[in-house]
Amino acid sequence: MEPTGKTDNGRTISVWMASTPMPEEQGLASDARADVAIVGAGIAGLTTAYLLAKEGKQVIVLDDGPTAGGETCRTTAHLVSALDDRFYHLERLHGREGARLAAESHAAAIDRIERIVKDHAIDCDFRRLDGYLFVPPGDDPKQLDDEFEAARRAGLDVTRVDRAPLSTFDTGPALKFACQGQFHVLKYLRGVADAARRAGVQIYNRTHADRMEGGTDARVETSRGVVRANAIVVATNSPVNDLVAIHTKQAAYRTFVVGARVRRGSVPQILLWDTPDPYHYIRLQQVADGDDVLIVGGEDHKTGQKDDGEERFRRLEAWTRERFPQVQAFEYRWSGQVMEPIDSLALIGRNPLDRDNVYVATGDSGNGMTHGTIAGMLLTDLIVGRENPWERLYDPSRKSLGAAKEFAKENLNVAKQYVDLVTPGEVNDASDVAPGHGAIVRRGAGKVAVYRDVSGQLHERSAFCTHLGCVVQWNSVEQTWDCPCHGSRFQVDGHVINGPAIRALDGGS
Ligand SMILES: Cc1cc2nc3c(=O)[nH]c(=O)nc-3n(C[C@H](O)[C@H](O)[C@H](O)COP(=O)(O)OP(=O)(O)OC[C@H]3O[C@@H](n4cnc5c(N)ncnc54)[C@H](O)[C@@H]3O)c2cc1C
Ligand code: FES
Repeated sequence: MEPTGKTDNGRTISVWMASTPMPEEQGLASDARADVAIVGAGIAGLTTAYLLAKEGKQVIVLDDGPTAGGETCRTTAHLVSALDDRFYHLERLHGREGARLAAESHAAAIDRIERIVKDHAIDCDFRRLDGYLFVPPGDDPKQLDDEFEAARRAGLDVTRVDRAPLSTFDTGPALKFACQGQFHVLKYLRGVADAARRAGVQIYNRTHADRMEGGTDARVETSRGVVRANAIVVATNSPVNDLVAIHTKQAAYRTFVVGARVRRGSVPQILLWDTPDPYHYIRLQQVADGDDVLIVGGEDHKTGQKDDGEERFRRLEAWTRERFPQVQAFEYRWSGQVMEPIDSLALIGRNPLDRDNVYVATGDSGNGMTHGTIAGMLLTDLIVGRENPWERLYDPSRKSLGAAKEFAKENLNVAKQYVDLVTPGEVNDASDVAPGHGAIVRRGAGKVAVYRDVSGQLHERSAFCTHLGCVVQWNSVEQTWDCPCHGSRFQVDGHVINGPAIRALDGGS
């Protein structure tokens, strides 16, 4: 079976996808020209397109899936300046001024989202609310003191409270961060895409970018024609134009979410986070019939290095039931991917080792709603030639000396994955693969990724990732092939879903 094109980036459905289908855009029809070509129509690409168009730039956005059909539609959409990697940690890595700029930029991103919502009257359930951080039993309580001091030094409005305002469980001492936010991400981006289109932005779906070249004849070569531009922005979550440099600075993690119906008012409107690694993150979202959905995320693992997602969903549900006995049925289970940078801040700016009119936005960590918005603001300034106070902080070429240990750990972990090149397959033969399952089979010097669909038909692709050749692993929750090295993901027909790979898995044998 030949790849048919990207259909989705997984099998599970988020609360946003269930309620708000995004309009289908046409594919690119012929070669085209623009001031700026943007690859990727998630929150980073669309925000950048909108802000550039407001500066009078002609912009073309290309995406090989639907608009906002990447990690953006799998988010939980907390809008925070209370960053999840802790300010005392950011101070260590980026200095006090770096931590202050990080807080300032994320607060400015929430302000910008609020302004866009107001300017275009986008009905997207945007609201300001307080966020609470607590330390569960067994985790070091001193973190809260350290974070309180560091967050204050960074300029955040943070106070100590005896507990978060929940009646059903006692969080113990917590930090209260004022003026955080939340929204319905797809309603928001539908509004942003409309506003961008009205400002002249052309958005194309089903258009796969095969190659990006900067310089005087800068262009994006796609499955449907060539787009020439003065600048290129690669906003594909994990850059598909970079082979190595960026991918040694970040690692891909799967993260899991459950959503349970609760009576409106039975859980207060707050954001809530705990401190373990991985942590739990909690919010409410109103649904049409007057109830709320309590959204609880966590249970992260490195992409392609575990396949126990169903168990992780069960643990999240048990965790939630224990603390929120008012939950009714669990109606949502979904998962997604976050790119964790080794020094905790996104990589936004000129692409390292490239011509200086090629830009990337990646390394969002769990703060991609605000990092994606910062990308829009910062890249717009860089492209129109305006100074931006956050340029150095987010520079993808920065040296992260304080994160040398993380760098070594992540890259050693990647090196270990290559052992799979010489190990036996998971099953001896394709006939051992049950319907609805996938497994790796060794054939001579090669390895084959074998999936048997529920009707019994086999789908075989080479198991060697087209990025740098690691052996992909089966993800039974999303029914995809995931690469344990840098997080590329592929559909069962081989089509690439997540970069850094840009090419489909090769044919089977
Ligand atoms: C479960 C989960 C919970 C999260 N919770 C939060 C949260 O509460 N708050 C927060 O701030 N962040 C959160 N995040 C992170 C945030 O959702 C992401 O970082 C953010 O959505 C990424 O946006 P993006 O625009 O960079 O990428 P994406 O939305 O992935 O967009 C990239 C686009 O590029 C396209 N593309 C890729 N390759 C090509 C190609 N070769 N040609 C053409 N198009 C291509 C894809 O189709 C995709 O549409 C969460 C993430 C997950 C998964
Ligand atoms: S993502 Fe790099 S080898 Fe697969």
